[in-house]
Amino acid sequence: EKGGYEHFMMKEIHEQPKAVEDTLNSIIKDNQIVLDLEGLDISNLSQIHFVACGSAWHVSMACQYIFEDLTHIPVRVELASEFRYRNPLLSKKDLVIVISQSGETADSLAALRLAKEKGIPTLAIVNVLGSSIAREADYVLYTLAGPEISVATTKAYSAQLVLGYVLAIYFGKEKGLLEEEKVRYYLSELNTLPKKIERVLEDKERLQWFASKYSNAKDVFFIGRGIDYAISLEGSLKLKEISYIHSEAYAAGELKHGAISLIEDGTLLIGVCTQSQLYEKTISNMVECKSRGAYLMAVAPYGYYQIEDTANFTTYIPRIDEHFIGSLAVIPLQLLAYYLSVSKGLDVDKPRNLAKSVTVE
Ligand code: M6R
Repeated sequence: EKGGYEHFMMKEIHEQPKAVEDTLNSIIKDNQIVLDLEGLDISNLSQIHFVACGSAWHVSMACQYIFEDLTHIPVRVELASEFRYRNPLLSKKDLVIVISQSGETADSLAALRLAKEKGIPTLAIVNVLGSSIAREADYVLYTLAGPEISVATTKAYSAQLVLGYVLAIYFGKEKGLLEEEKVRYYLSELNTLPKKIERVLEDKERLQWFASKYSNAKDVFFIGRGIDYAISLEGSLKLKEISYIHSEAYAAGELKHGAISLIEDGTLLIGVCTQSQLYEKTISNMVECKSRGAYLMAVAPYGYYQIEDTANFTTYIPRIDEHFIGSLAVIPLQLLAYYLSVSKGLDVDKPRNLAKSVTVE
């Protein structure tokens, strides 16, 4: 049942190319985006509220940058557990997008119901067919990741991300902001993702080796800007969830407003550096931490070899349009968390105190 892998998580990590490909194929036919959103007035949307928990909230964080860039619609990203108790300001021209693998997360479901009570259109991105959130939302888009067993999500997260990309492209097109040619370009870039994820997976032994050196780490920091910050949040959650190593994700520029005081000799700091407009800024934050004793790992696209002047260990990922590169940057972070958990002899698939689906608030 684990397909020859030692744990479901590793099996599911390797199922990501397929999860991404199947999800893309379900909504792109003959190079056209096919989504059933009849009745949704996309061109007049005033605001989009993404509402989710955990990793699905991290997907929402990544979507924020991509949606605002491609659709020019203001986006808010909300933790479902906060949104539902806040009496949020919503207008009838808004759209609430709930993202959930299980479709049963109590807070996400309550947030969806709240939006519906207020008469706001709701769209759910869900993996489990016929789940509560899927049944109750006005519109549903399914991720085709297949059943996910490991508590730590990987393939559902990746499938949610690509669904988010396609939705952003679609909204941008419907609003007249993206020409046909641009849409075709984005879709052809997206079609390269499954192969490129496979390529990143080929480097897993290097991460295994790196993890074997760091299994006694006490604190790990993940930093990045923009989409790289969203990916850092996910890398940090994966790590703490299954390896029980304390970690923090910071928007790189925020470090010096407090957390940098925690950096000491040997602290591991992971810089996600994929955005050409931003990575030099992140590198300068990494340099500041190195001078305070941090050991630096970087995740960067092939070709950014100057990063080796700064980082002690670099994992390279293939290039792709920068809106979508988070889907590649997250893979080494998943692998690192996995190998750290294994090297500590922990229960990778069922970490302590956690449930796959959080159906109580
Ligand atoms: O089923 P959902 O996507 O609604 O679950 C949300 C979170 O509970 C989930 O992403 C959790 O954070 C994962 N264990 C992260 O790996």
